[in-house]
Amino acid sequence: MSSLGTMARKVLPFFAKGRVVRGFGRGSKELGVPTANFPDDVVENLPEELCCGVYCGFASIDNGTVYPMCLSIGWNPYYKNEKRTMETHIIHNFSEDFYDQQLKLVIVDFIRPMLDFTSLDELKSAIASDIVTSHKILANDAAAALSKHEFFLLDEDV
Ligand SMILES: Cc1cc2nc3c(=O)[nH]c(=O)nc-3n(C[C@H](O)[C@H](O)[C@H](O)COP(=O)(O)O)c2cc1C
Repeated sequence: MSSLGTMARKVLPFFAKGRVVRGFGRGSKELGVPTANFPDDVVENLPEELCCGVYCGFASIDNGTVYPMCLSIGWNPYYKNEKRTMETHIIHNFSEDFYDQQLKLVIVDFIRPMLDFTSLDELKSAIASDIVTSHKILANDAAAALSKHEFFLLDEDV
């Protein structure tokens, strides 16, 4: 297990919520993997154990259906971002964007460190493999129970 994973698991499961803000828009266009970005204050308030990496868990939009998700936390080394971001890919086909809507999530487990890649195709395959890994991890009973956590039921703030 990587040391990043060992550190992260000390604070997992971790719950977060915030309004979806615009990223660079590359997720949908270049990667075919739409991502919802959290505002800076949510990223800045993450525990240091969740500094960076690729994780999986569950997420909802405006207290709606809870779906599996995978997310990245870090500087997107492939794109050499200067600002750390937290980007969630909800594993479901949505017909519309959800900017400014409330994203709630629980991070359940660490998958891998953020990596640099020599081509966009390599980044795409890594994310495709993250999605498969997420489904495997989240099928576990203890993990799946978190999708029913009361955090997702509370009906405030929408
Ligand atoms: C599951 C997942 C894994 C990711 N892994 C990496 C990675 O290893 N390296 C990287 O540079 N970016 C990674 N990303 C971030 C993507 O590069 C990023 O979501 C994409 O650039 C879209 O960003 P944008 O919404 O700001 O346009 C990952 C994103 C997701 C959802």
